[in-house]
Amino acid sequence: MNSPEITPLTPLISPLFEAYNISVYMKREELNHPFIQGNKLHKLRLNIQAALAQHKTTLLTFGGAYSNHIAATAVAAQEAGLSSIGIIRGDELATQPENWSATLKQASKNGMTLQFVTRAEYRKKSEMLTLLQAKFPEAYLLPEGGSNTLAVEGFKPLMQQIEMQCPDWTHLFSAVGTGATLAGLIKHTPFSPQTVQRTILGVAVLKQGDYLLPQIKTWVGQKPVHSWKLLTQYHGGGYAKSSDALQKKQQAFEQAFDIRLDPIYTVKMVNAFYEQLKQGEIKSGSKVILLHTGGLQGSTQLT
Ligand SMILES: Cc1ncc(COP(=O)(O)O)c(C=O)c1O
Repeated sequence: MNSPEITPLTPLISPLFEAYNISVYMKREELNHPFIQGNKLHKLRLNIQAALAQHKTTLLTFGGAYSNHIAATAVAAQEAGLSSIGIIRGDELATQPENWSATLKQASKNGMTLQFVTRAEYRKKSEMLTLLQAKFPEAYLLPEGGSNTLAVEGFKPLMQQIEMQCPDWTHLFSAVGTGATLAGLIKHTPFSPQTVQRTILGVAVLKQGDYLLPQIKTWVGQKPVHSWKLLTQYHGGGYAKSSDALQKKQQAFEQAFDIRLDPIYTVKMVNAFYEQLKQGEIKSGSKVILLHTGGLQGSTQLT
């Protein structure tokens, strides 16, 4: 996988933003790859390099039926000449390929061998790791969501791009699942006395996201970083949950700016930004970047 291409930083023009006297941009990482898109490209790049350097022949990873990471890993492995195995939550799907999500069908089409396990087995996946490594010695193991220290390191080129495109940004918003993406953004935002007023805001898409904080802090490490926050109140009912109100907001945003959002991650990030703006958390003169982390490859039905 090569160094990431430069994606546009699209200005979002709206009377609302003019009224608040702020500039808003979307960093269009959904355009960085048709299938390994958004944050996935950054999270997988150095892991694939490591797998090849260790002469592994297979990528083995974990996910649910709608996991963007599963879809992306299948394509990334194929592009790198590696096989791939996906351990998928939900053993009932093993005998019902007709009920597979678009994500699973696509992953299978892209060469991924799918192994279905019960939800109880899946919960014990960290214990499974040792067994799996013994069973598949030729496999490079990627944790759920592809979130590990190499994934965090993979965000350096993205932050360099943003720095070049908008050196005086003040707020950066990103959706958060495991927190590896947020940690990468925090860690790789260049820190200098001229930029101390910056804030990086992660929007947790799952309930009670505070449990992610210790891991995020470990990934960020000890060096000086800008102020950052994990916003845990915008999960909209929990992971992959939606509402009429959220769907209407998604449609309104897509029509206003001609940019598609995904219903699980980026729509909650955008909603959190609007809420923070209305609550006076974003001061006049701010330059806000909304990071589009992709997720458009699976068409998903939500509850
Ligand atoms: C589209 C999209 N955005 C954001 C995220 C969150 O990334 P992370 O798990 O690194 O927090 C994911 C995670 O899978 C994702 O698929």
